[in-house]
Amino acid sequence: MTTLLPGYFISFEGIDGAGKSTHIDSFAKLLKERHPDRDVVMTREPGGTQLGEQLRALLLDAPMNIETEALLMFAARREHIAQVIEPALMSGKIVISDRFTDASFAYQGGGRGLSLERLNDLECWVQGRPDGSLLQPNLTFLFDLPGSVAEARRSRVRAPDKFEKMDLDFFEKVRQEYLRRAKADPRRFYLVDATRTTDVIWNDLESLEIKL
Ligand code: TYD
Repeated sequence: MTTLLPGYFISFEGIDGAGKSTHIDSFAKLLKERHPDRDVVMTREPGGTQLGEQLRALLLDAPMNIETEALLMFAARREHIAQVIEPALMSGKIVISDRFTDASFAYQGGGRGLSLERLNDLECWVQGRPDGSLLQPNLTFLFDLPGSVAEARRSRVRAPDKFEKMDLDFFEKVRQEYLRRAKADPRRFYLVDATRTTDVIWNDLESLEIKL
């Protein structure tokens, strides 16, 4: 059961180089124009709080055991939910997060091979609410494209962090886990074909009717 709170929670997901970050700010601006009475909170994972940003610096740089990595991702998420996401949703705000739990299933589960059962347990622990429901995004945009296309795009843009240094096989596994999750929950996911040009993708996002 998914929690129903007065606010609306949107996450953006995809493998590194899929282009999600290009569209997040424009999408937030669009929602503010369409819903001037609602506050829009922009945030990201790992991160979103002071502690979370410190954990992000470690997670994106320091080599560590796979389980440690997953635990730190979820520790940062717990803090993020408690300090930022839940209070904002309780007061009716729109929260837009650059990544959330689907990234843990895709990267730590699909990519690194950590058991999905373990990740489910962590999800229940960290996102579970007193009424037994799970805090989940209302809507998740999944920017999807082949790992090879994303790799070519990444190499043009910036110096790679720990995850971005992983090979094509890793990113293909991450992609497949994202797609598997999208297929399992089609009501929450909106699949974006990220091989298209930025303009075409934007037209797609702009034409979407979201019932807040
Ligand atoms: P990303 O969101 O792509 O930020 P930037 O655009 O600044 O590179 O980077 C975060 C990285 O963290 C990304 O490679 C995916 C990874 N990640 C996980 O492995 N698990 C998670 O649960 C989350 C939230 C992110």
